[in-house]
Amino acid sequence: MKDEKIKLLDKTFKPYIRHQRIMDAIDGVAREINADFHGCQDIPVILCVLNGSIPFTGELLQRLDFPCQLISIKLSSYQGTQSTGTVLNVMGLTSSVRGRRVIICEDIVDTGNTIVALKEMLIDKEGAAEVRICTMLLKPDVYDKPVKLDYVGLEIPNAFIVGFGLDYNELGRNIRDIYVLDEQPMKYYILFGPPGAGKGTHAGALAQKYNLKHISTGELLRAEIAAGTELGKQAKTLIDAGSLVPDSVVEGMIETAFDTIKGVDGFLLDGFPRNLAQAADLDKILEKRGESVTAVVGLMIDDETIRQRIKGRAIIEGRADDASDETVSNRIRTYHSQTEPLIGYYKAAGKYWDVDVDAGTIEENRERVLALMEKIG
Ligand code: IMP
Ligand code: MG
Repeated sequence: MKDEKIKLLDKTFKPYIRHQRIMDAIDGVAREINADFHGCQDIPVILCVLNGSIPFTGELLQRLDFPCQLISIKLSSYQGTQSTGTVLNVMGLTSSVRGRRVIICEDIVDTGNTIVALKEMLIDKEGAAEVRICTMLLKPDVYDKPVKLDYVGLEIPNAFIVGFGLDYNELGRNIRDIYVLDEQPMKYYILFGPPGAGKGTHAGALAQKYNLKHISTGELLRAEIAAGTELGKQAKTLIDAGSLVPDSVVEGMIETAFDTIKGVDGFLLDGFPRNLAQAADLDKILEKRGESVTAVVGLMIDDETIRQRIKGRAIIEGRADDASDETVSNRIRTYHSQTEPLIGYYKAAGKYWDVDVDAGTIEENRERVLALMEKIG
């Protein structure tokens, strides 16, 4: 196997499963099937699901040592517009399976929608006597059906693969080895700093330059509430009661954002994490995804500047609460006691960087922040 990456249309793939390992997996599956069907009196049907399973079924067939018949089927599955589940469009079962024992040969089982619907159809509509499922590959993290998979060649993580029958937009089926999509890891930047440091002010420029999605937890909460989601309702109840929204709710929202926002190179977190507990939770959330915090971008100002900026903002935005000395002092205290310890946390991980934005105009400070990002890389 060449250790080279390959390009199919717009995507790059890297070597993943060598041809020999595929052969070994097929040897294993064939041994199990031969043991189960040894000395059978009937002629079981080997059902090749076109087109992806052609190479797999071809290899498997050569290893089966009982009398069997090869039949193919081509299907296209799609989700119905109503919630009726998967609709299967059978484009051809090349011979009848009525009263026969059938072994379905699939290249890969992902959600299992295709295979489960096919099994049901073969029994209910086509009158098969028994249907077993054999798949070269299985993504166990995705498969969520109660239906047993009788023979599984290899289990693989949830990644998009091509080769040995598997395609990306019909390309790659002819490749001998299996390749996996070569994705750049997502970037997770934390925009950090005391209230009034200018996180909201500079987030836009950073997000645009680095193709990041700016995630402000405050904005997310308002959006959830406006959309009337379950999470939004919970949050609203708490906020209306004058309580703080718990970490778990904020983290649920962030995870949803990570899951659903596509087409960006990463995220720019603003207002999260706010304390060490949230930072530890964020690490766990990212670890589950096989990812981690890229860097913390700290915007530093001293307490006196915090006071002036918040007061100035209060006058411009007409927020009376911001203007009160007591409220401002409270926010500064909370920052020092709850949020500032994050600096040590991320320094220990070698991920903390900051820039002084105490003096200077907004434009000058923006240049400083962008220069810092360049340095972080
Ligand atoms: P399921 O119905 O979600 O289990 O999807 C099964 C079908 O999706 C397979 O027969 C493949 O055609 C396709 N598929 C699932 N995962 C991949 C993959 O990683 N690469 C290429 N095709 C895939
Ligand atoms: Mg297929």
